Amino acid sequence: MNITLRQLKVFERVARRLSFTRAAEELYLTQPAVSMQIKQFEDVVGLPLFERLGKKIYLTRAGEELYRLSRTISLQLEEAEQLVEELKGTEGGRLAVSVASTVHYFAIRLLADFCQRYPKVKVSFKVTNRKGLLQQLDDNETDIVLMGQPPEDQDLAAQAFMDNPLVIIAPANHPLAGKKGISLNEVSHETFLMREQGSGTRNSVERFLSEKGVQISASMEMNTNGAIKQGVEEGLGLGIVSIHTVERELKDRRVVVLDAESFPIMRQWYIVHRAGKRLSAVAREFEEFVRNEADRFVKSDIIKTALGG
Ligand code: PGA
Repeated sequence: MNITLRQLKVFERVARRLSFTRAAEELYLTQPAVSMQIKQFEDVVGLPLFERLGKKIYLTRAGEELYRLSRTISLQLEEAEQLVEELKGTEGGRLAVSVASTVHYFAIRLLADFCQRYPKVKVSFKVTNRKGLLQQLDDNETDIVLMGQPPEDQDLAAQAFMDNPLVIIAPANHPLAGKKGISLNEVSHETFLMREQGSGTRNSVERFLSEKGVQISASMEMNTNGAIKQGVEEGLGLGIVSIHTVERELKDRRVVVLDAESFPIMRQWYIVHRAGKRLSAVAREFEEFVRNEADRFVKSDIIKTALGG
């Protein structure tokens, strides 16, 4: 059979997602390009690999068998790639880092320093929310992830490297700004700008509120920290965000941290990779760098003042 690696890769992704659209998005291809690759693959194999029932596609028996084999082949190709990266050492290796949207505020500073030390390393840097990161780890699409505590039921190696305090932010002219010991009951009557479902920050806030038995009366959903910060500045409501996302705004007094009961919600940042993944020399070096030096890249004086320390 004269199958190309490209056909195999496209087939594997369509089979994994059971969707031409999602496969196209993830492989940065157009949908007709994906359909064409699958058609050519089916021509070479001489059997249909997918069948369509209504709006859904399913693997045929031949499709299922080939999917199983294509998974094995891609894992071996990934292993070969990792071996080559390993042999390159820190000279010219490749590093794929993915970080939570909330982490990227300090992660870019951290990366800039790392790249100065290892200028020949080629870096791919992706930013997404918690749900997206867990998907990337599951798909083995990244070497290292910086995020909140990962779930225990996914086969991951995770190590905490820094505190991540979640705070309530308000515009500087808000009536509660500067007030000491605000009760949760008082803040619960405010409007809150909340992150989207799938965000680690959102998960933690929801867990915290249910533990405390507090219900927020009004909330508005926004899917980036940037939008929440701007919304708070414009007086749309209060926000609960990682303090690491608002260093600049705190410094310029565009927002302030409220002194509310039981706040900050104390979380931690974790450095994560798939358990059993053979990390390249560069990835191992980066892990070490994050563990030892990450706190140099957050503005601890601003954070200390905002937390009243
Ligand atoms: P985010 O943060 O998904 O809210 O951006 C990641 C996390 O807290 O795990």
